[in-house]
Amino acid sequence: MVKVTVCGAAGGIGQPLSLLLKINPNVDELSLFDVVNVPGVGADLSHINSDSATASFLPSSREDKTALAESLKGTDLVIIPAGVPRKPGMTRDDLFNINAGIIKGLAEGIAEHAPKAFVLVISNPVNSTVPIVAETLKQKGVYDPKRLFGVTTLDIVRANTFIAQAGKAKASQFNVNVIGGHSGETIVPLYSIGASKSYYEKLSAEEQKALIHRVQFGGDEVVQAKNGAGSATLSMAYAGYRLAESILKALTSSEEVVECTFLDLDSSIKGAAEAKKLVKGLDFFSLPVKLGKAGIEEVKYDVLNQVSDDEKKLLEVAIDQLSKNIEKGVAFAQK
Ligand code: APR
Repeated sequence: MVKVTVCGAAGGIGQPLSLLLKINPNVDELSLFDVVNVPGVGADLSHINSDSATASFLPSSREDKTALAESLKGTDLVIIPAGVPRKPGMTRDDLFNINAGIIKGLAEGIAEHAPKAFVLVISNPVNSTVPIVAETLKQKGVYDPKRLFGVTTLDIVRANTFIAQAGKAKASQFNVNVIGGHSGETIVPLYSIGASKSYYEKLSAEEQKALIHRVQFGGDEVVQAKNGAGSATLSMAYAGYRLAESILKALTSSEEVVECTFLDLDSSIKGAAEAKKLVKGLDFFSLPVKLGKAGIEEVKYDVLNQVSDDEKKLLEVAIDQLSKNIEKGVAFAQK
């Protein structure tokens, strides 16, 4: 029996993400949680004739703690795309404080009602919200860094798609390691390693620069194209689903599964201490990890030893920005 809970299920990301989970045969029960519209989304999804996933859905309000408790009870995996979009007049700090508060509240609920669940954080800014969840679970005494994942998969998906377009190749042949963080210059695609190498090297220096920039700021293309109607939702839902699917595969089979994720480089995880040394002591970083029944079983830090000189420069910028983002999250959670 695998139960999955989506927190923020009625949102732009939450709805398509819930749809994908509903049709995954490894999901036995899908629980939808949101502060608005969740009965409607649940009723809609419940008509899909998938055998294995039964959508359970509960009306709730911001104050209603029983709905959250019910949604989280017995869940194996929680995915969080909950948040609010930026409204006119709101500063980035205002937005950060609101979303950080939402995440902290949900993390407290998880600590109480689903302390053993895998937690996948989509809500932005991931570089800060993941440390908030870690710190909150730590305060509640239920933290296991092997079970906490910041979803950076959209950066990998974009990196694969964009190199395929540049090289006139099929996207499915690439699985680019994208490391660092999940916003702007903290995103570092390692095109010089693996299948992308030969395609990347054929590009001019200018084209390479433009490609890296496109991966780092791909979200802006969607925001501009949507023209005021929001940010990436469908591609983000697909990416969140891909990571969830990989974790479920690792849980339900003996296949070797490796994915990049933004993780706590805690020394209890194999390879994390080595990784931490290579990223100037940062506590959180996105790297490829081996997934298993316990969650993150090993950090594949060796990519950090294989980076090109250009990628080294990108990493320096990323590390500098990331340390501030991480600090901001930890400080919020400790307030
Ligand atoms: N608990 C559960 N759900 C909540 C809460 C809460 N405390 N607060 C807000 N939500 C819900 C909203 O009701 C809404 O349905 O989260 C959903 C967010 O959906 P959208 O506003 O459509 O935002 P979306 O585009 O899905 O992005 C959500 O993910 O990628 C990030 O930057 C993005 O932080 C943003 C988040």
